[in-house]
Amino acid sequence: MSQPFAIQLDNVSKTFGRGRKRVEAVCQLSLEVTAGQVFGFLGPNGAGKSTTIRMMMDLIRPSAGSVYLYGRSVQNNPSLMRRVGALVEGAAFYDFLTGRKNLEILARTGDCYDPARIQSLLVQVGMADRADRKVQGYSTGMKQRLGLAAALLNDPDLVILDEPTNGLDPAGIQEVRYFIRNLAEKQGKTVFLSSHLLSEVEQVCDQVGIIHNGRLVQTGKVAELLSAQAIIRLEVAPADRATGLLLPRWEVMANGRWLEVQAAREDVPELVQLLVAAEVQVFQVMVQQQSLEALFLAATAVAQPHLQPEEATHA
Ligand SMILES: Nc1ncnc2c1ncn2[C@@H]1O[C@H](COP(=O)(O)OP(=O)(O)OP(=O)(O)O)[C@@H](O)[C@H]1O
Ligand SMILES: [Mg+2]
Repeated sequence: MSQPFAIQLDNVSKTFGRGRKRVEAVCQLSLEVTAGQVFGFLGPNGAGKSTTIRMMMDLIRPSAGSVYLYGRSVQNNPSLMRRVGALVEGAAFYDFLTGRKNLEILARTGDCYDPARIQSLLVQVGMADRADRKVQGYSTGMKQRLGLAAALLNDPDLVILDEPTNGLDPAGIQEVRYFIRNLAEKQGKTVFLSSHLLSEVEQVCDQVGIIHNGRLVQTGKVAELLSAQAIIRLEVAPADRATGLLLPRWEVMANGRWLEVQAAREDVPELVQLLVAAEVQVFQVMVQQQSLEALFLAATAVAQPHLQPEEATHA
């Protein structure tokens, strides 16, 4: 029998409020995450990332659709949650207690108290030397690191991290990236992380889903998404005939003898063959991969609010 997905969202929607205050935070979202992967959930502010994560943790109920972890519905399933560790937005700690004490309390509540494991996690998240100070003196980044340790207390199979590098400095971001890759590669855990940082997702994740206005607009392997969106630059003659040959299938921009074609990298042999067969001369071919940033901007371009000066409608 094939393994169930670590995470499966089946047509999940969530609306908040009613009437004029109604917000469709997540809309008919379906996605699957294979066990052992690092999945990046990428989207701009307000896209619906945290709402989705809260539904995955059964902290809020979907308005429609279902969430399954390891093939089982999350609703009213506390034993399933033992396999999950999470860092959700604004992890709350007792300010007047030390970082270590906070972890100890959480571990006892979760029935996974093990002082050696707590110490080891504190070392892993780079908080060992600050663990015995009160949380009220912690910076945002330090709280974030403690939150990361808290998410791993119960040695979960699935680690869900909402914006894990929030508040971290560049060195901290680098450490956490390494830490996350390690969770998947060395410890076999599945990681689902949300982010609005493209570079983060590009460097850490195997798969990515782009969410915008509550809808999943793209999903796939990072490398595949990138190679599917390449820009092919060709020097050809005659350019107008070449343009005519390519236009039915690809988007083409011509500038003298140079053509800029939006196509997948895999399309290049076919594209060149088409030109050569029609006796177009091909002098140069260059493939330029788009950055994930360009892909992200293209995927989220629809209905993006444009910042424009207020129109002077009244004189
Ligand atoms: N409890 C709530 N009541 C009303 N609206 C909400 C609630 N929670 C979220 N929303 C709305 O749902 C939409 C999605 O919010 P969500 O917090 O999921 O976005 P996000 O992708 O996590 O954004 P960010 O990157 O800023 O954290 C937003 O329009 C938000 O205002
Ligand atoms: Mg959020």
